[in-house]
Amino acid sequence: AYPAEVRIVEVGPRDGLQNEKLDIGTANKIALIDRLSATGLRSIEAAAFVSPKWVPQMADAAEVLAGISRKPGVSYPVLVPNEQGYERARAAGAGEVAVFTAASEAFNLKNTNAGIDESLRRFEPVLARAKADGVKVRGYVSTVLGCPYQGEVPLADVVRVSRSLHAMGCYEISLGDTIGIGTPGKARAMLQAVAAEVPMPALAVHFHDTYGQALANVLACLEEGVAVVDSAVSGAGGCPYAKGATGNVASEDVVYMLHGLGIRTGIDLDALAATGRWLAGLLGRDTGSRVGKALAAA
Ligand code: HMG
Ligand code: MG
Repeated sequence: AYPAEVRIVEVGPRDGLQNEKLDIGTANKIALIDRLSATGLRSIEAAAFVSPKWVPQMADAAEVLAGISRKPGVSYPVLVPNEQGYERARAAGAGEVAVFTAASEAFNLKNTNAGIDESLRRFEPVLARAKADGVKVRGYVSTVLGCPYQGEVPLADVVRVSRSLHAMGCYEISLGDTIGIGTPGKARAMLQAVAAEVPMPALAVHFHDTYGQALANVLACLEEGVAVVDSAVSGAGGCPYAKGATGNVASEDVVYMLHGLGIRTGIDLDALAATGRWLAGLLGRDTGSRVGKALAAA
């Protein structure tokens, strides 16, 4: 059965913008997050406190966090790869952070210059300090349905890394099809395998749309009972360490599908779609959301 309610984690300002070639500038990033805050979203991933040498698009993370108007009831998580990132995030006032690793050793080396176990060790001080500071920590597992370097990724590896992050204290584990290669049957089987070890309410799904399968994958996972979905307004982005990967599934498309299924999100779809078209304009192209296009034409 489908969940009655789904929480959307809007990752456009981070996962979207980290891989856009055109930098929309700090003021527009702030305006984007403020517009998203007004749509009814409850989780908006605002920035990444990673190395600016690795991801120059996120170099202004502190300015972005300082500039946004925080709406009560909305969480603004930020990505941190290590303790240094955690310190920068806290200094900028972050109240929730997200750590990230992968199910594929090869991908994690390219993305963070560390193997999986080494990345988990880096997270230990982050989790410890976050606990003491009362900061919530989300955990990401990348390449859950395939890796651009390694190819097939064994389900056992996805389960092992998910279980580790959960055991370390991450309140939610986001399962990422980083390169958008998965199909619904595989997505379902992957989620089932992880849910046997980590409770379903602590799981989220994160699909990129490279092969046009993202919405179908989301639906398959909803049928398994997942109630948290990551998506990016306007379908912005990709992944700097996954060549050819397109953006996340568009938030507008996910919300339209959820509302059509009678599932509550608390999100104003028209406001979200207008924000997506505005962002696409800044990026100099059409919105990547089919729903965003259709609503503009209606
Ligand atoms: P490294 O080069 O091995 O780091 O990078 P290091 O510890 O050796 O330090 C080297 C330099 O980086 C030093 O500066 C540090 O101070 C600095 P220097 O002395 O040379 O001037 N440094 C930092 N600066 C700012 N903030 C920090 C930080 N840490 C070190 N936090 C590192 C290791 C992890 C830092 C690097 O590889 C990195 O930043 N990687 C991030 C890559 C990234 O952001 N990828 C995209 C996000 S993941 C994703 O998109 C997937 C996801 O969406 C889910 C999915 O779709 O699957 C989440
Ligand atoms: Mg991603």
